[in-house]
Amino acid sequence: MVNSENFDKMMAEKVEYVQNVIKSFLPKKENCPETLYDALVYSMEAGGKRLRPILMLETYRLFGGNKAVIEPFMAAIEMIHTSSLIHDDLPAIDNDELRRGRKTTHAVYGEAMGILSGDALLNYAYETALEAFRYNFDRDSLFMAMKVLAAKTGIYGMLGGQSVDVENDKKGNLSPDLGMLEYIHKHKTSALIEAPMMIGAILAGAQKGEISCVEEIGGKIGLAFQIRDDILDVISTDDVLGKPVRSDAKNEKVTYADLLGLEAAKKKVNDITAEAIRLLQTLPGENQFLESLVENMANRNK
Ligand code: IPE
Ligand code: IPE
Ligand code: MG
Ligand code: MG
Ligand code: MG
Repeated sequence: MVNSENFDKMMAEKVEYVQNVIKSFLPKKENCPETLYDALVYSMEAGGKRLRPILMLETYRLFGGNKAVIEPFMAAIEMIHTSSLIHDDLPAIDNDELRRGRKTTHAVYGEAMGILSGDALLNYAYETALEAFRYNFDRDSLFMAMKVLAAKTGIYGMLGGQSVDVENDKKGNLSPDLGMLEYIHKHKTSALIEAPMMIGAILAGAQKGEISCVEEIGGKIGLAFQIRDDILDVISTDDVLGKPVRSDAKNEKVTYADLLGLEAAKKKVNDITAEAIRLLQTLPGENQFLESLVENMANRNK
């Protein structure tokens, strides 16, 4: 583990690097309809913790990766994540008006532009990831990375999870038990943590068994992350989070905090995180920063 002072410094450097990578892959203003361009850039430049590209980069490094071919995938995963947030905030889904400390995209540009800019960003993520094929790099690995990116975003991943999640509210009346809630969390959230970590491992040339282990680790990190998100929805404030608290209660969503109680939910986050770190330590190679990042994600306040 890295001590907290060093961790904060390293994290700030990594976020700055990721911001530059993202910026370099954003669509060009020319030929892009003006409002669509403004809405895309508005949501991408609003900030956010940039955890998914950093997890990708650090898993890549864990397996010895050191090439620029990872960069289009780093930008792509943040585009997919941001598109999922734009749509998650829409009136038809969570109906929230604050995101990353700013008004949500639909609140500024209107609902139609919220839908379209989310779609455009999702599509542009694949256009961006495909840029990796311009690099002189093993095509089988790139193909495998593309497949993971697409599958973990779609029906078998984030969108599958979001689809069940919208039924877990006052309109859908699903009232999930712990098993169904785990399904929702593992798909809507873990899938977009598994994907970047797996892509990092794949592009660094990790073995099949190692990639499966990384997928399991990502699944645990994502589950802990979403349970922590549900807890913060209860205990935090809009100002600290940069998004509206009590969104789950407003939409009558059942969360881990409801089913287990806050204290047991916090313990679950810690237990799953400890399992994820233990599994990380079974992999060849070592990345102390990555271990600290996983620990910090579980204890985060925003
Ligand atoms: C928010 O993700 C959505 C969840 C899966 C809980 P983040 O908390 O990573 O959001 P940003 O990117 O920092 O805004
Ligand atoms: C959404 O979960 C996860 C996504 C795939 C976008 P939440 O609805 O809890 O995320 P927040 O709290 O709005 O960020
Ligand atoms: Mg939601
Ligand atoms: Mg939401
Ligand atoms: Mg939430």
